[in-house]
Parts: sequence; structure tokens; C-alpha cells
Amino acid sequence: MGADKIEQLIGQMTLTEKLGQMSMLAASLVVTGPVGPGDPVTLVREGRVGGILNTWGYDEIREAQRVALEETRLKIPLYFSVDVLHGHRTIYPIPLAEACAFDRDLWLRTAAESADEATRDGIHMTFAPMLDVCRDPRWGRICECAGEDAYVNAEYARAKVTGFQNTNDDPHRRLAGVAKHFVAYGAVTAGRDYAEVDISRRALHEVYLPPFKAAVDAGVMGVMPSFTDVAGIAMTAHRGLLHDLLRVKWGFKGVIISDYNAIGELIAHGVAQDMVEAAVLALKAGIDIDMMSGAYEQGLPVALERGLVTMQEIDTAVRRILHMKGAMGLFENPLRGLQQEMPGPDTIPSHRTSARDAARRSLVLIKNEDNLLPVANDVRRIAIIGPLADAQSEMMGPWCMAGDEHQAIGILQGLRESLRAQEITHVPGSGIDDAADPSEIAKAVAAAQASELVVLCLGENRQHTGEAASRTLPRPFACQMELAKAIFETGKPVLLILATSRPWILPDWMVSAPRAILIALFGGTEAGRAIGDVVAGDYNPSGRLCISWPYRTGQIPVHYGMRGTGRPHDPNNGFSTNFLDAPIGPRWGFGDGLSYSQFELGEAYVSKPTIGADESVDVSIDITNGGARAGEATLFMFTHDPVALATRPLLELKDFRKAELAPGQRATVTFRLHASQLHYPDFNMEPRLDNGRINIFVGASARRADQKCVTIEVQQTA
Ligand code: NOJ
Repeated sequence: MGADKIEQLIGQMTLTEKLGQMSMLAASLVVTGPVGPGDPVTLVREGRVGGILNTWGYDEIREAQRVALEETRLKIPLYFSVDVLHGHRTIYPIPLAEACAFDRDLWLRTAAESADEATRDGIHMTFAPMLDVCRDPRWGRICECAGEDAYVNAEYARAKVTGFQNTNDDPHRRLAGVAKHFVAYGAVTAGRDYAEVDISRRALHEVYLPPFKAAVDAGVMGVMPSFTDVAGIAMTAHRGLLHDLLRVKWGFKGVIISDYNAIGELIAHGVAQDMVEAAVLALKAGIDIDMMSGAYEQGLPVALERGLVTMQEIDTAVRRILHMKGAMGLFENPLRGLQQEMPGPDTIPSHRTSARDAARRSLVLIKNEDNLLPVANDVRRIAIIGPLADAQSEMMGPWCMAGDEHQAIGILQGLRESLRAQEITHVPGSGIDDAADPSEIAKAVAAAQASELVVLCLGENRQHTGEAASRTLPRPFACQMELAKAIFETGKPVLLILATSRPWILPDWMVSAPRAILIALFGGTEAGRAIGDVVAGDYNPSGRLCISWPYRTGQIPVHYGMRGTGRPHDPNNGFSTNFLDAPIGPRWGFGDGLSYSQFELGEAYVSKPTIGADESVDVSIDITNGGARAGEATLFMFTHDPVALATRPLLELKDFRKAELAPGQRATVTFRLHASQLHYPDFNMEPRLDNGRINIFVGASARRADQKCVTIEVQQTA
């Protein structure tokens, strides 16, 4: 529908119909009994709903769209939205896991496949990607983001937005993305969900905003502000960030959608007295769509009467929403790609294959003493123990609204399929968070004693993760600790599999006792088979941590991008930044992860020693696979600016690359570094580039010992 038609339509609309377009409802419209006032069918029929969330599937969508098209005055189609965060019916690894693959093509592919399935089920919009950089494992929603680093989240944003919106050839298979939660939700105080956010402008501009900028540059169709405030200004009412920055400075043209009930919650925030004030604040800040609070419908008519808002402001929001519906193709084809056959792992087998590939690329092998893995052929009897061993539904993680847990593969099944020659016994030994049962532990110990290798599967259940799932101590539950102790006491070699949604704070003994540790953040539909592939050696692990695993809760936030301080850490100097009771760094840090291959790095070198303001330099390094197996290495390029206007982080990630190498193969990996990547925010948060030395570190992780250093000089002509 062209701009003229949209204007005509706006000209015909009553205020109720305009506010209806601006309201999103969570509802099902399949009617199985009488309907009354306030019922979703009645609301749609009266033109009081513009879009519906949490509804999908042939019957539901067809019926809702029929009511909108046949029974409303203006016959404006509805749009349908769901949180398709890491898959629709086929579930891929949770974002925090998939980010560990450091693979842009993979991120894009799984988004495109999710869009394909979701649109077949009648969905037009997903509330994804979630782009809240987070350095706090106490926060349950850490599992929804791409980890601790701003650049990784920005690259992830680009890939996901492109995958959802632009990749599938058939326009009906494209899904509108909504970048959320704008902004800095990942910095909630103490990791407590919905708590206040109080961060510096520098942190906002350097860490939390860049992923959203990347999403906007990639053409994301929607943005959702976060539930929280930032330094006392509720994001749902934050005109400075939503209007001045997002709309005006960044030129964002899409829709801004409130989070669930968030406009009404401005009252609880203490910035609005009633629904009228709440609606005025949100509209003035630039929010077009009210998700579920009813504030626009209740408050804006009064606000209009009192002269607190104008009809032009309302029309602007309606115009954006109708343009979005036009861009979705809903006016021409309101049912778009809806199909009767349920899409998913069993009807689209290539998605199942893809989910297995995604899950195995996301696994991080973090310890492998004496090459316990892959399991040697002469290991005959294996005991698979722990509450996460046979827990297919937990593998799906949070936010898998349409995913069918019966189609998921648990660890036990995956290992049974991959270790066909071995004799496998299985004893859970405990529940996930029940009271420990000594008789169950005794059974598990007996199974361990009768085996040559124990695979101990510990972890969370999916209700422990995601929204409203903060924990002060994210660690194994007491019953799992007791089970683990008893198993370690048998002295049998143990592979510990951690099936969690976030970094856990592990006791030291739980790290030292097992011979191997595999970090298996919830892997989705094919999680079990992916684990089987790595354990049996059918896949050479390639995942690297995108998030630090602290030693202690008291270290939080701990991440690789800390600034140096005036008293940099020095183990030999008591008056340097330090803890008396814990190391300064994490237990496992950004980029950590092992392979069955051994990669050796040569020295890093640059194509030229200096760069000007608009120039770039090539940074290269030779890498050799010194092991006996083909494998995939991940290389990171960091920089450090040693003298700047503002203190810079000791390392800043600028790029990452993968290299696939056969045994003995050597390759050169080249990064291109443009001078604009060396900009940092000055005191006014405007980009600044200084002349002088820049240290470039290329290596396998954020650990200095894994890196090679080379320097360049920035020389700008006056
Ligand atoms: C609340 C969550 O914060 C948001 O991420 C989600 O998209 C909405 N609910 C809708 O489910």
C-alpha cells in the first residue's frame, strides 16, 4: 500500500480505530464459547487491536485475520508477533550458546530458518534479537544475549536482523525483527531483573548502544525499550534516547513497541500519576505501540481533550504502523505465507540437520586432561549420571514458545546414538533442585564404580532461566553438589557436562576433580546429538566462550574489557588493584575453549606501520594445525590504545575469524583494521581518534599468553 493510500486510510479512521492500531494484544481468537465485551474477538471486531502477540498456527491466524478483514469497518489486517528468539518450532541453541560459535554465517542461517518456520505459522514479527550486553550471570536473561562484548553483540545483531528480514528469497518468509531491550537492560543492579540501571554515559555509548546501532544500520523494523530506567529516566518514557538519539540522530524509521505492560508500569516507576500521564510520556518519547497495558486506549483520548498530546502525534504513530503493515505485504496478502502443514524439525529435515550443526559449534570444551575426550575405543562401560542426562525438555532453554520438547534430543539419547560400541548405563542420581536422596546417590555411585568412564550431566532447568530468574548465587543446586562429590570420590575418570543457561560459580573441587569439562549451554532440539558428536569425536569442538565464568560472585562484573586503573593489577604489588581472596580474572574467560587439534601461531605482522584517518591496515598471522585431526580455529583481533583522552579498556575486540585447517596445514589469517574502528567517545560522546601508537593483539583468546602483539602508529594529517 502506497503512502497516499495510507494517508487516505488515516483520514477515515476514528480515534478509537487509531488507538486500536497502536495497541497490541496477547490473545487467541479461536472461539469455543460465547464472547462478551472486552473479549479479544469483540476488540478486534471493534477495530481496537492492531496486532496480536503469542498466537500462531493455521487455525488461529486464519480466524483472527478473518475477523479483522470481514468484520471490522476499515478491514485493516492484523500483524502477529511472537518471541522467536532461538528458533520457532526447530529450536537452536540459546543465544549465549550460539554466540560461542563466533560464526556470523551460522547466526544468519539459523535466523533465516527460524523466519521460514515462523512465517509458515503465520507470524510476521519476532521480538528479537535481544542485544543487551551483559556481564552478570546473576541475571537470568543473560542467556538471551550474545555475551559480554559489545562488538560480538553488534555482529550478532547484524547477522540476526539480516537473517530474519532479508535473507529468504520468498518475501513471505521474511520476519520483521525487533531489537530489544533498548538499552542497558543487561546492567540491572546486582543482576536483579527489572531493577534500576545506573551506568555512566561512557558505558552507555561504548558498551550498550553499539549493538542497537548495528541493528538499526542493518534495517531492523522495530525497537523495544527496556522495562527499566537508565539513571532515573524510565526507558519507556526516555525521549532523549528514543527520540533524540534513536529517531533523530540514528535515523530509525521503524516502529517502537513498548515491552509488555511497560507503559502502564510508568505509574509504578513513579513518573506518571495515572494512565493518562503514562500514555503522554510514552507517546512523547516516541513509542508507537502499546503492548498490553491499555494505557494508549484509556489515556490518550483524555490527553487529547486536555491538549497534552496532538492528533498529529497520534497520526505519526499510526502512519508508522500502517507503513510497517505495508512493508510486511499484509494489505495485498493478509495471510502471507501461512500454511496448514506444521513447519518444524520433522517436516523440514534440513532444519534438524542445521540445528545439530549449530548446537555442536556452540559447545565449549574447557578442560580435557590427558585427552579424555574423544572417548577412546577401548573404553567399554560408560555410566551416564545426573539430572540433566535424560532431560530433553530442558535442552530447549527459555523462550521456545512453539518448540515441541518431544522432538528434542537429550544427552542420554545423543550419547547412545554416538557411542554405539559402548555399554551404557544410566542413573539420574538426583533431581535438578530437589532434596538430595541418599539412596539415589548410592545407585549412581554403584553405576559409576561399575564403569570405566562417568559422564556426569549437571545443570539447570529451563524455568531457572530467562525473565524473572535472577539468582544471587548461580551455581549447582545442593543435591547436584552432593551427587557430584559422591561420584568424584569413586576416583573414576569423569567428564562433567554443564547444561546451563549462564555461567555458573563453581566450587574449586568441581573443576579440579573431573578430567574433562564440556560447557553445553542449552543447545535446543538437537542438543543431545551435538554433545554425542563431540564426545565420540565425530566433531572436533570449536566453540569459544563469549562470556567469562567468574570464580566468585563477588568478582562480578568480571570480563575481559576492564580498564587498567592508575594502579594496574600486579601480583607482586599489594597496592595494585586486586582481591585478597580471589584472582582478579575469571576462572574461564572470553575466547577460552579447546579443540582436539593443536593450533600454533606465528608472529603477527602488519601491511604498513602507520595509518591515516581514512585508511586501513591489514593485520596478518600464520596459523598451523599441529595436531592429528582437522579442526577449526577461532582468532580474535583486539586493540589497546595506551594514551588517550579517556582511559581505554586493556583490550577491545575489533574482529574475529575462523580458520579450518587439515592436520599439518598452515594458513595466513588476515584482518583488515580501519582507522574508524579505533575511534572512541570523547567527553561529549562524539567519536575521536588520536595520533599515536596502537597495540594490536591477535590470538586465540583474551588471555595475553595466547596472543601475539604488533603495533601501528595513527598519523592524521592536519
Ligand atoms: C517481556 C519481555 O521482556 C520481552 O522480551 C518480550 O518480548 C515480551 N515480554 C513479550 O513476550
